[in-house]
Amino acid sequence: MVTPTLTTEEILTTLRKVKYPGFSRDIVSFGVVKDARLDGANVSLALQIPSQDPEVIAKVQAAARETLGSLPGIGEIHIQAGARPAPHDSAPGPSPIPGVRHIIAVASGKGGVGKTTVAVNLSLALARPGAAVGLLDADIYGPNVPLMLGTPGQPVAENGKIIPLERYGLKVMSVGYLLGDQSPVIWRGPLVAQAVRQLLHEVRWGDLDTLVVDLPPGTGDAQLTLVQSVPLTGGVIVTTPSSVALLDAEKGLRMFRKVRVPVLGIVENMSYFICPHCQAETDVFSRGGGREVSEALGVPFLGEIPLHPAIRKGGDTGSPVVVGTPESAEARAFRDLAEKVRRAAEAAIEAMPQLIVH
Ligand SMILES: Nc1ncnc2c1ncn2[C@@H]1O[C@H](COP(=O)(O)OP(=O)(O)OP(=O)(O)O)[C@@H](O)[C@H]1O
Ligand SMILES: [Mg+2]
Repeated sequence: MVTPTLTTEEILTTLRKVKYPGFSRDIVSFGVVKDARLDGANVSLALQIPSQDPEVIAKVQAAARETLGSLPGIGEIHIQAGARPAPHDSAPGPSPIPGVRHIIAVASGKGGVGKTTVAVNLSLALARPGAAVGLLDADIYGPNVPLMLGTPGQPVAENGKIIPLERYGLKVMSVGYLLGDQSPVIWRGPLVAQAVRQLLHEVRWGDLDTLVVDLPPGTGDAQLTLVQSVPLTGGVIVTTPSSVALLDAEKGLRMFRKVRVPVLGIVENMSYFICPHCQAETDVFSRGGGREVSEALGVPFLGEIPLHPAIRKGGDTGSPVVVGTPESAEARAFRDLAEKVRRAAEAAIEAMPQLIVH
């Protein structure tokens, strides 16, 4: 039998099956593979891993070895793996936004669970008198914040910085304001990363107690760039009571843990139905799953947000319930959530005092 001859191209194609731990991006496109050489059937790899965590380094190395081992005709596999030295060019390390105390990411493993709805109402509920709050829409592919806040106008630049729009007392920035109706769906990873970095560092946020960041679903380029660009106080994970969504919440949780970002807690959205006519509560799905998964994973449970037509309507008409119907049970649920998030954020930042920047 003739053993097939391997090429470095095949080695790289095979390595593209290895995902960077906690993220959906593969190690080749992520720039982890610095060198791949073949000597007959033997392969030598040099991996540079953008983490100082020995566990992550060992994991990438083991996954690369296992995946390459499945190639027919492969000989010995030598892998040299180490932490990437501090980056200095296109991807600078995390640097705080001057004047911003907390940066909180709202994330989920799965799409459509209500991240943007939660991010918008949470921001509005956090913005009580005396608390300056910003909302950054980091969903480059489908920015929904402009619609949900009904923000008119376009941001302008001043001395090389973009001035965020203001709505209901919030400072707001979204790629949607810059692109209008132009669809950015064909953007590739590096452009997404660049856009997220600009929204963080080239916008004049001013002094903020909290900057809430609404993320796209999943664990892709925007998430990776966010954690690499700014020190996050923590992440809030949104889930719904269905078991699939809960599994996805775990995915989101693992992503934050891999990059050592504290998880402030899990919030269960569309938890139960409030009848708009009689206000009776009905558990449409298996309410309580969010609390169970929080307990199982050892993270705080931040509360339940009801499924209510007014929440969707408020989002569609640019008048979110926290400001549109502030006395309603739905608005109260968001205010309770905001209070828990505020306390969790203070506790998290006390555990890392070096990140406080004024
Ligand atoms: N608690 C709720 N009650 C009623 N409708 C809701 C609730 N939460 C979200 N919705 C509606 O569900 C839809 C999806 O919500 P949203 O856009 O916030 O989800 P998302 O997780 O941000 O989605 P994507 O992953 O696409 O960014 C919207 O129409 C929104 O108005
Ligand atoms: Mg969204």
